[in-house]
Amino acid sequence: MQLPLYYNEEDEWNRALLLYDSVLREINTKLEILNNEFKQAHQYNPIEHITSRIKSPESIARKIRKKGLELTVENIVKYVNDVAGVRIICSFTSDIYRIASSISNQDDVTVLRVKDYIANPKPNGYMSYHMIVSIPIFLTNDVIDTKVEIQIRTIAMDFWASLEHKIYYKFEGKAPAGIKDELKECANIISFLDEKMLSINESVKHYHEDFNGGVAMSSDTPLPVVSADNTGSSANSLDALKSYYGSIAED
Ligand code: GTP
Ligand code: MG
Repeated sequence: MQLPLYYNEEDEWNRALLLYDSVLREINTKLEILNNEFKQAHQYNPIEHITSRIKSPESIARKIRKKGLELTVENIVKYVNDVAGVRIICSFTSDIYRIASSISNQDDVTVLRVKDYIANPKPNGYMSYHMIVSIPIFLTNDVIDTKVEIQIRTIAMDFWASLEHKIYYKFEGKAPAGIKDELKECANIISFLDEKMLSINESVKHYHEDFNGGVAMSSDTPLPVVSADNTGSSANSLDALKSYYGSIAED
């Protein structure tokens, strides 16, 4: 990736790119693990899909210019928080907070900033949960905490945000009031849809629990899996194995 830097800072920029690429790999692996674990416990994927990107040189330059700064690697690293960005699309609103706290609670993750546009939507109706976190990247002789922007939203919120973004660009940020009102109305519909889907999912879960409780298992019933909120014997047996995963037994 070429960035029109003023000075000859190619080495610094290549190192920065290596770090941003690495932090995306780290966060993607963390998310994949959480998604797989959740799937084992609850029989569905809380994450519909994940996209990640390194911000384009044009967008980085535009942002730096907007902030009135000189285009240097130091300014980019210091002031552009979303050079590395990951967007997580979840099934239900409740999954968003679950994923966010599972990530924030990890020992190597430092949460630098949170913007909860779900609890507090933007005036235009935008909803999404944003975190800037840093994760240590282990290099040969160095460990460097590297920032990544995480956006978490439902499919419905993502649908709205993508279309709003396109419309916004068409009007170069100056959409007529009528259009703004209509987009806001769509955001309200989206929010209603998410609530409705969540409540359908809750009642389906209860239906499943009642159903499985009263019906004998057939041969194609999957083996019972451990649920995260299960405090019964299978959870205990998992706990009992915990210390062995990182240890070596004597021969
Ligand atoms: P930037 O907007 O990136 O300069 O950062 P910020 O510090 O204002 O952060 P914020 O968390 O508010 O927004 C970060 C990102 O969220 C943006 O780059 C967009 O990708 C997305 N975003 C924020 N607001 C909107 C919005 O009104 N509409 C859409 N479609 N996306 C938005
Ligand atoms: Mg951004």
